[in-house]
Amino acid sequence: MNKETTVFPKGFLWGGATAATQCEGAWNVDGKGASVLDHCTNGDKEHPRLVTEVIDTEKYFYPSHEGCKQYEHFEEDIELFAEAGFKTYRLSINWSRIFPNGDDETPNQAGLDYYRRLFEKCREHGIEPTVTMTHYDIPWHLCVEYGGWANRKVIDLFLKYAKTILTEYKGLVTRWLTHNEINFGTISYGEIITSGILPKSGRILMQDPDATTEDVNRRFQALHHEFIASAKVVQLAHEIDPENEVGCMMCGFAFYPLTCKPEDVAEAQRDMEIWNYYCMDVMCKGKYPYWAKRYWKEHGISLEIAEEDLSILANGMVDFISFSYYRTDCSKANTQVVEGRTDFGMPNPMLEATEWGWTIDPQGLRWLLNEYYARYEKPLMIVENGIGAYETQEADGSIHDQARIDYMREHFKAMAQAIEDGVELIGYTCWSAIDIVSAGTGEFKKRYGLIYVEADDLGNGSYKRTKKDSFYWYQKVISSNGVDLA
Ligand code: BG6
Repeated sequence: MNKETTVFPKGFLWGGATAATQCEGAWNVDGKGASVLDHCTNGDKEHPRLVTEVIDTEKYFYPSHEGCKQYEHFEEDIELFAEAGFKTYRLSINWSRIFPNGDDETPNQAGLDYYRRLFEKCREHGIEPTVTMTHYDIPWHLCVEYGGWANRKVIDLFLKYAKTILTEYKGLVTRWLTHNEINFGTISYGEIITSGILPKSGRILMQDPDATTEDVNRRFQALHHEFIASAKVVQLAHEIDPENEVGCMMCGFAFYPLTCKPEDVAEAQRDMEIWNYYCMDVMCKGKYPYWAKRYWKEHGISLEIAEEDLSILANGMVDFISFSYYRTDCSKANTQVVEGRTDFGMPNPMLEATEWGWTIDPQGLRWLLNEYYARYEKPLMIVENGIGAYETQEADGSIHDQARIDYMREHFKAMAQAIEDGVELIGYTCWSAIDIVSAGTGEFKKRYGLIYVEADDLGNGSYKRTKKDSFYWYQKVISSNGVDLA
């Protein structure tokens, strides 16, 4: 792009992102309770993770117990982020660090103190925190005793947690995201990591082939409760501090028709609806989409919607939209079970893919930004985007992650084009700021970071931090506000 003047607005929020259960470690220290991810074993491409009811460290390794040890290294990490020039650091608060069981009378002071120190450190370095309230980390006790989000009582427990952190960090944090990738709630994966409800296999799979109508119904009921909780949090956040801005956080799904057959085009439209707009309409327009009733009927879904719920949704619309963007997929009619199908659709034969089979599609980002903006006309923030790759450290300590630089460069060009199209894009936080555990596979070797952490899949290593080539490259991008992409 190398234009002399930037198209990125002044104050554009460049930065990086992580999630508590993937980076903090220290899973049971200073009063923290277990979260659902603390019960998830490691895995890899071929071997899906397991969720064990009892944590059995003799038999299994649980990667969130170590993360990249940010709990111990947060000062060093934030100094590195400041050196990269981050304007914002997107992180999540671990709910079970604040309320160890989720239904405790009073919050855990040590947990509150930890995040206070972390946010103060960010502010000292001119970094604004962008904070996700729950990123796959419901307290395990709420899964076991309440059945997770399918239980309406969890709404009030979440509100108590939200009120605690909104009050505690008033002035330190003003940009909040409620539920990470809430739209995964329509499938098995989302239900496991937000409610601990396991498919029969006990494994973390995206889709559960054995799901019954009852299972599907429960998932959509849980989502309804998350919507109500989020809408109430929006109101609460504005009451506590009018400076607060609250966004939804979506997994950005882009579906193209695999062919121009009208049936495939219609399938792509249906996929866009259920994967994106089911949740986004509720959170951004304050109501379920007009086609929701048809969808519920076709899938045997019968929701319990309390009388006041519709007005709660209407009064709790988010201020902005945040989303992750990694890949695109293709839609083809009548292919629920077909060879070659990915978890989400058909692979796109026109695109290259990562070693984990995730297509690389920068142009899809421009397309999706325009789709979202046209529909909602709310400010957009990309809060996850990046490439997972195997990487090694050279004998001299350097890490040459050219694939990441190429990936980011092309996505930045697409973002610049979308901004020129007129899209209001306010920020970008790469996934991930530093190497952390993969949420999907539990691997450490699926590395996303700008900063290398010397550790392996079983938690061995020095956890020493080293800047990768992408760190220096991104530093130039930020300091030139997106002009210098060379
Ligand atoms: C997003 C999640 O779905 O994708 C992150 O919000 C996750 O938590 C990221 O880490 C990348 O996925 P994975 O499975 O490669 O870690």
